[in-house]
Amino acid sequence: MSDTSLKHLAIIMDGNGRWAKERGLKRTKGHEKGAETIRDITTYCANHPTIETVTFYAFSTENWKRPKLEVEFLMKLLDRYLKNELSTYQEQKVRFKAIGNIGALSKPLQKRIAQTEELTKTNTKLIQVLALNYGARAEITTAVNQLIAEGKKSVAEEDISSALQTPYADIDLLIRTSGEERLSNFLLWQLSYSEFHFTPTLWPDFTASELDDIIKDFKQRSRRFGGA
Ligand code: FPP
Repeated sequence: MSDTSLKHLAIIMDGNGRWAKERGLKRTKGHEKGAETIRDITTYCANHPTIETVTFYAFSTENWKRPKLEVEFLMKLLDRYLKNELSTYQEQKVRFKAIGNIGALSKPLQKRIAQTEELTKTNTKLIQVLALNYGARAEITTAVNQLIAEGKKSVAEEDISSALQTPYADIDLLIRTSGEERLSNFLLWQLSYSEFHFTPTLWPDFTASELDDIIKDFKQRSRRFGGA
Protein backbone atom coordinates (compact mmCIF):
# COMPACT_ATOMS: atom_id res chain seq x y z
CA MET A 1 0.00 0.00 0.00
CA SER A 2 1.32 3.40 -0.85
CA ASP A 3 -0.54 6.65 -0.38
CA THR A 4 1.44 9.73 -1.15
CA SER A 5 -1.38 12.21 -1.41
CA LEU A 6 -0.66 15.11 0.88
CA LYS A 7 -3.69 16.33 2.77
CA HIS A 8 -2.33 17.43 6.11
CA LEU A 9 1.00 19.18 6.45
CA ALA A 10 2.46 20.11 9.85
CA ILE A 11 5.39 22.43 10.45
CA ILE A 12 7.63 23.03 13.44
CA MET A 13 8.93 26.54 12.78
CA ASP A 14 12.36 26.86 14.31
CA GLY A 15 15.35 29.15 13.93
CA ASN A 16 13.91 32.67 14.24
CA GLY A 17 16.40 33.57 16.98
CA ARG A 18 19.42 32.25 15.06
CA TRP A 19 18.27 34.05 11.89
CA ALA A 20 18.22 37.34 13.79
CA LYS A 21 21.52 36.68 15.57
CA GLU A 22 23.28 35.97 12.27
CA ARG A 23 22.27 39.47 11.18
CA GLY A 24 23.09 41.20 14.45
CA LEU A 25 19.38 41.84 15.05
CA LYS A 26 17.18 41.31 18.10
CA ARG A 27 15.44 37.92 18.33
CA THR A 28 12.10 39.71 17.94
CA LYS A 29 13.07 40.69 14.37
CA GLY A 30 13.41 36.98 13.61
CA HIS A 31 9.91 36.34 14.91
CA GLU A 32 8.55 39.19 12.78
CA LYS A 33 10.16 37.77 9.67
CA GLY A 34 8.92 34.32 10.73
CA ALA A 35 5.34 35.61 10.79
CA GLU A 36 5.75 36.71 7.15
CA THR A 37 6.92 33.21 6.27
CA ILE A 38 3.72 31.79 7.80
CA ARG A 39 1.74 33.98 5.41
CA ASP A 40 3.71 32.87 2.33
CA ILE A 41 3.49 29.19 3.22
CA THR A 42 -0.24 29.43 3.99
CA THR A 43 -0.88 31.05 0.60
CA TYR A 44 1.10 28.26 -1.09
CA CYS A 45 -0.94 25.62 0.79
CA ALA A 46 -4.26 27.31 -0.07
CA ASN A 47 -3.37 27.03 -3.76
CA HIS A 48 -2.04 23.48 -3.59
CA PRO A 49 -4.34 20.88 -5.19
CA THR A 50 -4.39 18.33 -2.34
CA ILE A 51 -3.46 20.10 0.91
CA GLU A 52 -6.55 20.54 3.09
CA THR A 53 -4.94 21.46 6.41
CA VAL A 54 -1.66 23.05 7.47
CA THR A 55 -0.79 23.08 11.16
CA PHE A 56 1.95 25.37 12.49
CA TYR A 57 3.58 25.07 15.91
CA ALA A 58 3.54 28.72 16.96
CA PHE A 59 3.90 28.57 20.76
CA SER A 60 4.47 25.55 22.97
CA THR A 61 3.55 25.12 26.64
CA GLU A 62 7.33 25.20 27.26
CA ASN A 63 7.78 28.57 25.49
CA TRP A 64 6.56 30.40 28.65
CA LYS A 65 10.07 29.74 30.01
CA ARG A 66 11.50 32.32 27.57
CA PRO A 67 12.33 35.81 28.84
CA LYS A 68 9.18 37.71 29.80
CA LEU A 69 9.75 40.42 27.17
CA GLU A 70 10.11 37.86 24.39
CA VAL A 71 6.90 36.10 25.46
CA GLU A 72 5.06 39.43 25.57
CA PHE A 73 6.39 40.28 22.13
CA LEU A 74 5.25 36.93 20.71
CA MET A 75 1.74 37.43 22.12
CA LYS A 76 1.51 40.94 20.63
CA LEU A 77 2.86 39.69 17.32
CA LEU A 78 0.25 36.96 17.25
CA ASP A 79 -2.52 39.47 17.88
CA ARG A 80 -1.16 41.76 15.13
CA TYR A 81 -0.74 38.81 12.79
CA LEU A 82 -4.38 37.69 13.21
CA LYS A 83 -5.63 41.25 12.77
CA ASN A 84 -3.60 41.88 9.61
CA GLU A 85 -4.18 38.41 8.26
CA LEU A 86 -7.95 38.61 8.08
CA SER A 87 -7.91 40.00 4.54
CA THR A 88 -5.54 37.22 3.39
CA TYR A 89 -7.72 34.56 5.05
CA GLN A 90 -10.76 35.90 3.22
CA GLU A 91 -9.02 36.40 -0.14
CA GLN A 92 -7.42 32.97 -0.04
CA LYS A 93 -10.53 31.32 1.47
CA VAL A 94 -8.59 30.06 4.47
CA ARG A 95 -10.33 28.98 7.65
CA PHE A 96 -8.39 29.74 10.82
CA LYS A 97 -8.41 27.45 13.87
CA ALA A 98 -6.39 27.55 17.06
CA ILE A 99 -5.47 24.52 19.17
CA GLY A 100 -3.81 24.39 22.58
CA ASN A 101 -4.70 25.75 25.97
CA ILE A 102 -6.23 28.95 24.62
CA GLY A 103 -8.01 29.70 27.93
CA ALA A 104 -4.64 30.52 29.52
CA LEU A 105 -3.90 33.31 27.01
CA SER A 106 -4.86 36.93 27.68
CA LYS A 107 -8.53 37.78 27.35
CA PRO A 108 -8.04 40.21 24.39
CA LEU A 109 -6.02 37.58 22.54
CA GLN A 110 -8.67 34.94 23.25
CA LYS A 111 -11.23 37.34 21.82
CA ARG A 112 -9.15 37.95 18.69
CA ILE A 113 -8.75 34.18 18.20
CA ALA A 114 -12.49 33.51 18.64
CA GLN A 115 -13.39 36.38 16.28
CA THR A 116 -10.97 35.20 13.60
CA GLU A 117 -12.28 31.64 13.86
CA GLU A 118 -15.84 32.92 13.57
CA LEU A 119 -15.19 35.28 10.65
CA THR A 120 -13.36 32.63 8.62
CA LYS A 121 -15.49 29.60 9.45
CA THR A 122 -17.12 29.28 6.03
CA ASN A 123 -13.83 29.42 4.09
CA THR A 124 -13.22 26.12 2.37
CA LYS A 125 -9.91 26.11 0.49
CA LEU A 126 -7.64 25.40 3.46
CA ILE A 127 -7.72 25.10 7.23
CA GLN A 128 -4.80 26.88 8.84
CA VAL A 129 -4.30 25.59 12.38
CA LEU A 130 -2.06 27.49 14.77
CA ALA A 131 -0.91 25.51 17.79
CA LEU A 132 -0.74 28.09 20.58
CA ASN A 133 0.21 27.23 24.14
CA TYR A 134 0.10 23.70 22.82
CA GLY A 135 1.56 20.47 24.21
CA ALA A 136 0.66 17.05 22.82
CA ARG A 137 0.79 15.20 26.14
CA ALA A 138 -1.59 17.76 27.65
CA GLU A 139 -3.90 17.40 24.65
CA ILE A 140 -4.01 13.60 25.00
CA THR A 141 -4.44 13.78 28.80
CA THR A 142 -7.32 16.25 28.45
CA ALA A 143 -8.96 14.01 25.86
CA VAL A 144 -8.74 10.93 28.11
CA ASN A 145 -10.08 12.86 31.11
CA GLN A 146 -12.98 14.07 28.99
CA LEU A 147 -13.81 10.48 28.04
CA ILE A 148 -13.65 9.42 31.71
CA ALA A 149 -15.96 12.32 32.63
CA GLU A 150 -18.38 11.06 29.96
CA GLY A 151 -18.49 7.77 31.87
CA LYS A 152 -16.26 5.61 29.66
CA LYS A 153 -14.60 2.68 31.52
CA SER A 154 -12.32 1.82 28.64
CA VAL A 155 -11.51 3.67 25.45
CA ALA A 156 -10.84 2.74 21.83
CA GLU A 157 -8.28 4.54 19.66
CA GLU A 158 -11.13 6.19 17.74
CA ASP A 159 -12.51 7.61 21.01
CA ILE A 160 -9.20 9.30 21.73
CA SER A 161 -8.82 10.52 18.14
CA SER A 162 -12.23 12.15 18.21
CA ALA A 163 -11.75 13.68 21.68
CA LEU A 164 -8.54 15.45 20.62
CA GLN A 165 -8.61 19.13 19.68
CA THR A 166 -7.51 18.24 16.18
CA PRO A 167 -10.40 16.58 14.36
CA TYR A 168 -8.45 16.72 11.12
CA ALA A 169 -6.94 13.97 9.01
CA ASP A 170 -3.75 12.37 10.36
CA ILE A 171 -0.63 14.24 9.39
CA ASP A 172 1.01 13.07 6.16
CA LEU A 173 4.18 15.14 6.31
CA LEU A 174 5.96 16.94 9.14
CA ILE A 175 8.64 19.52 8.41
CA ARG A 176 10.98 20.98 11.03
CA THR A 177 13.28 23.82 10.07
CA SER A 178 16.68 24.91 11.43
CA GLY A 179 18.38 21.51 11.54
CA GLU A 180 16.93 20.35 14.88
CA GLU A 181 15.52 16.82 14.72
CA ARG A 182 13.05 16.63 17.60
CA LEU A 183 9.27 16.54 18.03
CA SER A 184 9.17 18.85 21.06
CA ASN A 185 5.80 17.53 22.27
CA PHE A 186 4.02 18.37 19.01
CA LEU A 187 0.98 16.33 17.84
CA LEU A 188 2.34 13.00 19.14
CA TRP A 189 -0.86 11.07 18.39
CA GLN A 190 -1.53 12.57 14.96
CA LEU A 191 2.04 12.05 13.72
CA SER A 192 1.99 8.26 14.17
CA TYR A 193 2.30 7.50 10.44
CA SER A 194 3.70 10.79 9.21
CA GLU A 195 6.73 11.17 6.99
CA PHE A 196 9.37 13.51 8.46
CA HIS A 197 11.51 16.07 6.71
CA PHE A 198 14.21 18.05 8.50
CA THR A 199 15.76 21.01 6.73
CA PRO A 200 18.70 23.15 7.89
CA THR A 201 16.95 26.29 6.57
CA LEU A 202 16.04 28.72 9.36
CA TRP A 203 12.29 29.43 9.46
CA PRO A 204 12.49 33.09 8.30
CA ASP A 205 14.41 31.90 5.21
CA PHE A 206 12.01 29.05 4.41
CA THR A 207 10.21 29.59 1.09
CA ALA A 208 7.31 28.18 -0.92
CA SER A 209 9.89 27.03 -3.46
CA GLU A 210 11.69 24.88 -0.85
CA LEU A 211 8.33 23.52 0.28
CA ASP A 212 7.55 22.61 -3.31
CA ASP A 213 10.80 20.60 -3.51
CA ILE A 214 10.08 18.87 -0.19
CA ILE A 215 6.62 17.88 -1.46
CA LYS A 216 8.14 16.47 -4.67
CA ASP A 217 10.47 14.34 -2.51
CA PHE A 218 7.51 13.28 -0.31
CA LYS A 219 5.64 12.05 -3.38
CA GLN A 220 8.53 9.71 -4.23
CA ARG A 221 8.29 8.02 -0.83
CA SER A 222 6.54 4.71 -0.37
CA ARG A 223 4.21 4.89 2.62
CA ARG A 224 3.35 1.42 3.83
CA PHE A 225 1.59 2.27 7.13
CA GLY A 226 3.10 -0.86 8.66
CA GLY A 227 2.01 -3.07 5.74
CA ALA A 228 4.30 -4.91 3.34
C1 FPP B 1 11.28 29.28 17.08
O1 FPP B 1 12.37 30.14 16.85
C2 FPP B 1 10.03 29.82 16.77
C3 FPP B 1 8.99 30.00 17.63
C4 FPP B 1 8.99 30.52 19.00
C5 FPP B 1 7.68 29.61 17.11
C6 FPP B 1 7.28 30.31 15.83
C7 FPP B 1 6.93 31.72 16.02
C8 FPP B 1 6.84 32.58 15.01
C9 FPP B 1 7.02 32.20 13.58
C10 FPP B 1 6.55 33.98 15.37
C11 FPP B 1 5.28 34.47 14.84
C12 FPP B 1 4.14 33.59 15.11
C13 FPP B 1 2.89 33.94 14.82
C14 FPP B 1 1.80 32.93 14.84
C15 FPP B 1 2.56 35.30 14.42
P1 FPP B 1 13.39 30.22 18.03
O2 FPP B 1 13.15 31.50 18.75
O3 FPP B 1 13.29 28.98 18.88
O4 FPP B 1 14.75 30.24 17.25
P2 FPP B 1 16.15 29.72 17.77
O5 FPP B 1 16.03 28.24 18.03
O6 FPP B 1 17.05 30.02 16.61
O7 FPP B 1 16.47 30.53 18.99
